[in-house]
Amino acid sequence: MSAQTNRAAWFQGGDAQCDASPEARARAFRLVLLGPPGVGKGTQAELLCQALGTCHLSTGDVFRAASCQQEPSPALKSALEAMRRGELVSDGLVVSMVQERSGCLSCCGGFLLDGFPRTVSQAEALDELLEQEGVALDAVLSYELPLGEIVDRLSGRRTCSKCKAVYHITARPPHREGVCDLCGGGLIQRDDDRPDSIRVRMQAYEESTRPLADYYSRTDRLITVAAEGTPEVILERSLKELQSRAAQVRH
Ligand code: AP5
Repeated sequence: MSAQTNRAAWFQGGDAQCDASPEARARAFRLVLLGPPGVGKGTQAELLCQALGTCHLSTGDVFRAASCQQEPSPALKSALEAMRRGELVSDGLVVSMVQERSGCLSCCGGFLLDGFPRTVSQAEALDELLEQEGVALDAVLSYELPLGEIVDRLSGRRTCSKCKAVYHITARPPHREGVCDLCGGGLIQRDDDRPDSIRVRMQAYEESTRPLADYYSRTDRLITVAAEGTPEVILERSLKELQSRAAQVRH
């Protein structure tokens, strides 16, 4: 199944409307993607969205889009500085940003959260928000990969400066080196993909985000997926896991 998704409401917040229609989707999925920086969550999110017709909601993308603002608020400025260093943005700021977009959580098209929650306190806040919106998570897909491969994925990542499409210098190279296939924009390396920021991000993941696996496993929402192989192979693995979870729930 595939359907058009539109992330305007997620990027703009407030009352922005999206064009999800209930008829377009027979079954809306509500999923969280977990996993270390660079494991391939964003890549899987895009493929899962095409397969499930569900919207890709990334908190990192919202911060990166906000970094283009002429005069960011002091809170946003300090968030962007933390991001550049590879540290987590404060729970308060992230949760209030998601709260402003809570309409996306009750969207009839479902959602695929990527990069949120990242701490147990964010996960508790998400559970409260979902309860208020009258919806529940179907599953949390947790991607796992050995550290060496993660560092290779992160250090080889290039992102389009215009449309933000993601490439990898060897695994997903563009047709013309340094140029986006989709819009012709220049490809750049993300500020936080440099070795010193990668180290800080991995440490933040181990300390703050890894405990989320226990949090979701206790409530039987966790599905662990091996992130080795091509993006398409990992997608198949993820869809298979989701199908078998859905079959278990039906019985
Ligand atoms: P965010 O944008 O969420 O980044 P991240 O979690 O660090 O994840 P990445 O985007 O780096 O990696 P990914 O797993 O999506 O991998 P990708 O698919 O691109 O967050 C950035 C920052 O924002 C945080 O550090 C923090 O400061 C802040 N932030 C955001 N949310 C927050 C929150 N909730 N709380 C606090 N702070 C928050 O793939 C990586 C590369 O590998 C690409 O080049 C890709 O082409 C390649 N690749 C993907 N899959 C494969 C494959 N199967 N084989 C080979 N190559 C592959």
